[in-house]
Amino acid sequence: MSIRTAHRITGLTGTYAAPGDKSISHRALMLGGLAVGETRITGLLEGEDVLATARAMRALGAEVTRGADGAWTVYGTGVGGLRAPSDILDLANAGTGVRLLMGVVATHPFTSVFTGDASLRKRPMERVMTPLRQMGARFTAAEGGRLPITVEGAAMAMPIRYVVPVPSAQVKSAVMLAGLNTPGRTIVVEKQATRDHTENMMRHFGASVSVERTAEGDVIALDGQPELRGRPMAVPGDPSSAAFPLVAALITEDSELTVTGISVNPLRAGLFETLIEMGALLEITNRRIEGGEPVADVTARSSALRGVDVPAERAPSMIDEYPILAIAAAFAQGRTTMRGLGELRVKESDRIAAMAKGLAANGIAFQELEDGMIVDGRPGDVPGGGTVETHMDHRIAMSFLVLGCASRKPVTVDEDEMIATSFPDFAGLMASAGARLEAA
Ligand code: S3P
Repeated sequence: MSIRTAHRITGLTGTYAAPGDKSISHRALMLGGLAVGETRITGLLEGEDVLATARAMRALGAEVTRGADGAWTVYGTGVGGLRAPSDILDLANAGTGVRLLMGVVATHPFTSVFTGDASLRKRPMERVMTPLRQMGARFTAAEGGRLPITVEGAAMAMPIRYVVPVPSAQVKSAVMLAGLNTPGRTIVVEKQATRDHTENMMRHFGASVSVERTAEGDVIALDGQPELRGRPMAVPGDPSSAAFPLVAALITEDSELTVTGISVNPLRAGLFETLIEMGALLEITNRRIEGGEPVADVTARSSALRGVDVPAERAPSMIDEYPILAIAAAFAQGRTTMRGLGELRVKESDRIAAMAKGLAANGIAFQELEDGMIVDGRPGDVPGGGTVETHMDHRIAMSFLVLGCASRKPVTVDEDEMIATSFPDFAGLMASAGARLEAA
């Protein structure tokens, strides 16, 4: 379905299950593929990014199948048991998929070649190659350390102690995944904590991972060459996807919408914390543990929002949520300031630049900082009427379609296909809730 234009509506309602968490879905396929025996995954996100990882794991020798009931089953090869792929591994738009898999193959003694779509081929990969080279892998990359990249995995991997220079769960995870088939202890030091799914899930599959909080940061140590065993995995709902319908309910009139089963892992929950500070009527109920993750149901009601200063330290816990936060800020009274966002410039698109242009096209005053954004809200009076360039970025597309649900004039995005990378049923859920999303 093509859903390029969003029209103003009121009264978004209903209760919906969140789509599976993208970060956890990638990791479930990879760790299942490195484990011995069966891993049965329920709630896997069937988005394009995760399907690309499933194909890559198959090409590397894991058996990955989808059952008629929607559950996925992985039979792994055991740590160190993957085989050389017979063709190029194309990860399409999946940054997490490619960076984590480069870690996986870095300590397998064979050569593999990775590529991706036009957006992924622009993204920096040196950040994972630097530590993986220290572990013994060799790389040949296109100019600027970009894809396509050939990886010659190390036959005799060396454990390293690596201080991650930018807050990045992908870099941490790539090193840890390489550390699985490395003798000795692989240590990653994080100055700013990022999502801890790799640590939690490696433990779930039987690895020994310790985390020590020190003055230098979190010191994460993995004992190499564990025997991973296949485990059942229940993937919780993705807070980064649930954010879109929830913010849509906050900024439209007469709305009350619930998304169930969302991961509320504290390292992912920065958006909810920020929205509550802005005065959002967000109710977090039914807190429980599922598949080892804290999950909850979240209800959003139409709210009078006010602008806030978002602390820079909060950025890692909501890094993917700044585009939709900027949309919420456009409907808030006063100014919202967001800083510490250098990483936003190297996501699926330069998200600071994309938000600057998109908001300007819809009549919202926006200041672009090198590592931040300042939005002056116009509650009840967001003009809309613009056409937004999404730069193949799913979250930019969804953010502006949400804007169009509450702006005076309709909002159009230049393409919507990429939404399927992370939230294939976005259009279906929004339509059921009462949104008017139409083909251009
Ligand atoms: C992810 C980490 C983050 C995030 C991405 C998913 C992960 O990227 O933006 O969507 O699953 O590890 P960085 O590690 O580059 O910050």
